[in-house]
Amino acid sequence: MDIHSAIADLRAALKNRGRVVFVPTMGNLHAGHISLMTQARAHGDTVVASIFVNRLQFGPNEDFDKYPRTFQADCDQLVAAGVDILFAPTEADLYPEPQEYHVEPPGIQNVLDGEFRPGHFRGVATVVLKLFNCVQPQAALFGKKDYQQLMVIRNMARQLALPIDIVGGETVRADDGLALSSRNGYLSAAERSEAPRLYRLLNDIRAAVRAGERNFAALENAAMAALTAAGWKTDYVAVRRQSDLGIPDATGIPLVALAASRLGNTRLIDNIEI
Ligand code: PAF
Repeated sequence: MDIHSAIADLRAALKNRGRVVFVPTMGNLHAGHISLMTQARAHGDTVVASIFVNRLQFGPNEDFDKYPRTFQADCDQLVAAGVDILFAPTEADLYPEPQEYHVEPPGIQNVLDGEFRPGHFRGVATVVLKLFNCVQPQAALFGKKDYQQLMVIRNMARQLALPIDIVGGETVRADDGLALSSRNGYLSAAERSEAPRLYRLLNDIRAAVRAGERNFAALENAAMAALTAAGWKTDYVAVRRQSDLGIPDATGIPLVALAASRLGNTRLIDNIEI
């Protein structure tokens, strides 16, 4: 695997490499990332991953400084997954001057996760567009675990006519259902055994909707009450339209149940399509 940190070197290495498929990450890779790397192979000739912990998408009280940086272990996994090129810019490579131009996503950036992480999706969209400009891929893969992020990027690509196919990869889960996430490493042993409750409650919502329940607010409130009773601090549990994350009416359109809740100091998110 070739590793490049400078944008010019990366671009030179990507000449005549056929169809380029890109999987951006912030490192601390787990089986969910590796599944995206493996799927990427089916979408092109050259698989490019990136590792960059993007300051712009972290709020002032979030975990930018303590975000796990495990570069060598990540490289080993990428080599084993057959990734061709790793783009690992430093902050000076990607932000050589303060980033003053931003991508401002529309209303979707202010709901759900955006309501609780102001500026997060602006930071994500800005770095993703910049990474796209560095790598110039024909396809890019993002995990469905970050459902709202995937939607923000899909909409950005469509509205800005980026010539890139945006592909969503299924969430990879531990045997007990917990969605794999770099932040799971923050959980204590007791929190780790409690954590799958989030997925179980989303499953309960899905089962209830499939059985005909249409009082979504009641389902959301019941799940939030169950989380509170088990010691979680919940930002939201929400049943939304898959198409735009809007609040559904009672018709049979595809839905998704999403949740973000804090166990101790660790904020976990998950979702399940209905
Ligand atoms: O999902 C992530 O890891 C990040 O938000 C991304 C897409 C790499 C942008 O920094």
